[in-house]
Amino acid sequence: MKKQAIPGSVNAVTVVDVHHWTNRLFSFRVTRPDSFRFRSGEFVMIGLMKDDGKPLLRAYSIASPSWDHELDFFSIKVEDGPLTSRLQKIQVGDEILLGKKPTGTLVLDALLPGKTLYLLSTGTGIAPFASVIRDPETYDRFDHVVLTHTCRDVAELAYGEKIVKDTLEDPLVGEMVQGRLTHYTSTTREAHTHTGRITTLIENGKLFEDLGRKPFNKDEDRVMICGSMGMLQDTKDLCEAAGLTEGANSMPGEFVIEKAFVG
Ligand code: A2P
Repeated sequence: MKKQAIPGSVNAVTVVDVHHWTNRLFSFRVTRPDSFRFRSGEFVMIGLMKDDGKPLLRAYSIASPSWDHELDFFSIKVEDGPLTSRLQKIQVGDEILLGKKPTGTLVLDALLPGKTLYLLSTGTGIAPFASVIRDPETYDRFDHVVLTHTCRDVAELAYGEKIVKDTLEDPLVGEMVQGRLTHYTSTTREAHTHTGRITTLIENGKLFEDLGRKPFNKDEDRVMICGSMGMLQDTKDLCEAAGLTEGANSMPGEFVIEKAFVG
């Protein structure tokens, strides 16, 4: 069979690991081209070649830190999703396409200096934060990092649990992170230590009560948010109600948002 030509906007990279977490979630690791540079928290286009010889690409947050020699991604499996229905079948040794221009707003540069960094995620929205929590610069800029992850059920929290454990044991950043990273998980459709949407837990004060911290405060707290469109809107409203203003690369602020990849 004739090998399809790879468009100039992407590189072909090789899959080195695939892990299926649940029947809805999987993660994979690919080789990193020497020329590929990114800031922790950014996303990039990734995908596969279609049968018609054109690339099928979607935005994916990079889940590994910028110092890592390979690249991690965390994905949902959508049965009839044009890309994920095929991507979920990738195996070690396969090639996938990786864009050359990572970008995004869930980066430290888009936030004003502060004391506590809240990373609020639902579902695969934890992916960019798997990168941010392993970046030493995060701990240079903030005293404390609170990573929240809310999923439908307990099994969907497993990826985050593993990432946090690996971060604490990491030879490069582990020591720096000890005692400064709090992982707070909740579920909405199954019993767990904490239950309820992150928005509910912020609104009724339960999150802050459980953490032993004060509600969002413009002077000290900075927030990054990643989840579904509905979650982004509702969480953004709560940040704005607390007096925080949205930031961007061109104008840093007190909170930033980015849509998690959905299908
Ligand atoms: P729920 O079970 O009440 O829908 P999904 O896997 O569908 O992306 O959902 C991930 C998590 O995000 C679920 O716990 C879900 O809760 C929650 N969620 C969905 N919509 C919102 C929203 N508008 N605000 C906050 N959390 C939400």
